Parts: sequence; C-alpha cells; structure tokens
Amino acid sequence: MMVCEYKPGLEGIPAAQSSISYVDGQKGILEYRGIRIEELAEKSTFLETAYLLIWGELPSKEELEAFEHEVRYHRRIKYRIRDMMKCFPESGHPMDALQASAAALGLFYSLRDLHNPAYIRDSVVRLIATIPTMVAAFQLMRKGNDPVRPRDDLDYSANFLYMLNEQEPDPLAARIFDICLILHVEHTMNASTFSARVTASTLTDPYAVVASAVGTLGGPLHGGANEEVIQMLENIGSVENVRPYIQDCLERKAKIMGFGHRVYKVKDPRATILQKLAEQLFEKFGHDKFYDIAQEMERVVEEKLASKGIYPNVDFYSGLVYRKMGIPTDLFTPIFAIARVAGWLAHWKEQLAENRIFRPTQIYNGRHEIPYTPIEQR
Ligand code: SDX
Repeated sequence: MMVCEYKPGLEGIPAAQSSISYVDGQKGILEYRGIRIEELAEKSTFLETAYLLIWGELPSKEELEAFEHEVRYHRRIKYRIRDMMKCFPESGHPMDALQASAAALGLFYSLRDLHNPAYIRDSVVRLIATIPTMVAAFQLMRKGNDPVRPRDDLDYSANFLYMLNEQEPDPLAARIFDICLILHVEHTMNASTFSARVTASTLTDPYAVVASAVGTLGGPLHGGANEEVIQMLENIGSVENVRPYIQDCLERKAKIMGFGHRVYKVKDPRATILQKLAEQLFEKFGHDKFYDIAQEMERVVEEKLASKGIYPNVDFYSGLVYRKMGIPTDLFTPIFAIARVAGWLAHWKEQLAENRIFRPTQIYNGRHEIPYTPIEQR
C-alpha cells in the first residue's frame, strides 16, 4: 500500500491539471492562458478576458461582439428571484445573499445537460450576466429601494456601477473597475476554485458549483480579507499607529490582513497594479489618508516579514480602490465574486472535459473497537 504524507492545507499537492492560468510565486508572475496580467490589464476588458479563460483563446472581433451581446441581454433577473431577495434580512452579509441567489438560479434553470456545448455557453452567459445584477439588487433592496433595471447601452462594468449607485459612473472609474475585475478573475487552484472543481466533479449544475465557490470565497483567509483590510486601516487610524499595530500582531501571532500568500513569496503582481490604479483614482478624485497608512504598513511588514516572504496580496489595495469609488465595504468580496465567477466557470468546463469525482483519502487518527456505553453509565 502506498504511504503518503499528510500536508495540512494540501500545500504543494496538485489537485488538477490545468491550462487556464499560471503563477510563478518566486518571480511574481501571473498569466491567463499564457498572457501576462499586466498586458491584459492594459489592453483587454473583463468580458474579453473571461472569454479567453473559458474558451482558451482570445476571441475574434465577431466572437467578442456576440459574447458581449449575449451577456448584455441576459442581465435581468427573474422577478421571483428579486422577490426572494426582498425577503433576505437587510442586516445579512451580501456574500450570503449572493450565495443564496446563485444557488436559486438552479431552481429556475434546472435542465442539466452537461455534454451540450450550448448548455455550457448559456450557463456561462447567464451567470456572468446576472451575478452583478443580484449584487446590486441586494444593495438597493437592503436600503429599502427598488432595484434598478440594467442599462443595455452601458458596458459590463459601467452598468454594474450604474445599478449600484443609480447614476452613470465616471468613465475613468468604470475603466478602473473593469481592470479590477480582470485582476480578480482567476488564480490557479485557490480555495474557492478548488471548491468549484470538487462540486463540479459530482456532475451537479453550474449554479451549485458557483454557489459553493461563493461560500468558500467569503472567509477572511481568502476573498473576505479585502473587507478586513479596510476595517484594519480604519482601526489603525494614523501612520504613527502602524508600527505598534504590527508589533502587537506579531506578538499575538495574529495575521495581518492583506499580507502573505501560499504561492507568492514576493509582492503579488495584482497588488502592484491595484496600487497604481488607486493612485490614479486619488489623483482625479482626491487623496485618501488610508493610502498613507497602507504604504507605511507595506514598509513595516517588509522590514519585519520579508524573510518569510510576506508581502501585500491582491486583497491589500483593492479595498482602497473600491472605497474611493464610494462602494460599501461589505460589497468588496461580492465584487471579487463577480470577477471570479468567470474563473470558476473556466474550471467547471475544464473539469467536465476530463472528469473524475474528487475523493481523496484521510489519515485516521481516532480510536477503534470502542464498546458502546449506555447513557446512564456516562
Ligand atoms: C486570497 O490562494 C490564492 O490564490 C488566493 C487568492 C486568489 O486570488 O484566489 O490569491 C486570494 O485569498 C489572498 C489571501 C487573502 N488573505 C489574507 O490576506 C489573510 C492574511 N494572510 C494569511 O492568513 C496567509 O498568508 C494566507 C491564508 C494567505 C496563506 O496561508 P498559508 O499559506 O497557510 O500560510 P501560514 O498561515 O501557514 O503562514 C506561514 C508563515 C507563518 O509563520 P511561521 O509560523 O511559519 O513562523 O507565515 C506567517 C505565519 O505566521 N504569515 C503571516 C501572515 N501570513 C503568513 N504572518 C503575519 N501576517 C500574515 N498575513
């Protein structure tokens, strides 16, 4: 019998063969289908990048137009889904609302035809199109307002910001938001993608795949860290408080949010781009004092933890970008999900192409042959 070593967190253990994305954690390189993210962030759009990830190649002009058109005309959600969302408690976290709404799509689109490319395409389009509408609808409904109908004349990101704020966004803000989606769309075998692939491997429907991944993304060690970063910056409050705050975290062995990564041992390349995007926003819309605190944090953490390879990750600067756009903090992780849904769907499609159900083993460390003790003797 093969004896295998147990690795907590499955560190270093390949869970799939994949050609979707690639990370070099020593050099700080991230590629989607072989293309560096710096190039995609500069030249591509979120929908084009989503297409690249899901279908493996950059689309032709006609293919991209057809995909954009389909997504644009599938943005509306059924009034029964809206009615269901109206019953959600307004104090609930938007990630929970999103997970429940994504799962509910499976009730309305219950046909499961996993071998049919048209079914795959319809599901991809529906999920990419409706997830932003559901996030924006919950945001308005929890404030007691009616959701805003999507605008067919607006691009993907501009339409989301319009549905959220009930006004057309500034073009620079819309473009920067779209780049943020590109940066968050995919990242090899992270926890939520692993979750998506495990769920996909049971041959369930794509709505269950996305719902399980949304649930996994929400935790503070994963996508939920972007929300915690802003809370941490608010708690720190001033540049002078940074050093004692970090010292205290290190003494308590507490994790500093937005820092560290299982794969990157240098600064996450997405954090570098997000930091520049934040600076562009501050230049146009005014400085944010939390940026000074963030930069000081980066300096002090590098001084103390560079030897362990702890640097800012994707969640460190994204919140500063969204905050400057006036987006509420608890929507930061749902926005991560809006982007990542395309990555999850690329993995869903790849998993289906060569599926075998995930069924790892465990190392049992419990007892054996224990006699049952009657309740009056316990
Ligand atoms: C994302 O996997 C992905 O790709 C995820 C992601 C994606 O795009 O999908 O990139 C998105 O989830 C980003 C990560 C967001 N999370 C946080 O910012 C939370 C804070 N970071 C950490 O909790 C941690 O760094 C993780 C969860 C990101 C990684 O955890 P690991 O790989 O299990 O590392 P570890 O917790 O075992 O830490 C290893 C060492 C420890 O020191 P020693 O005990 O060996 O001395 O590094 C230290 C840790 O104490 N360490 C930190 C730290 N992160 C690691 N110390 C202080 N602050 C931190 N943030």
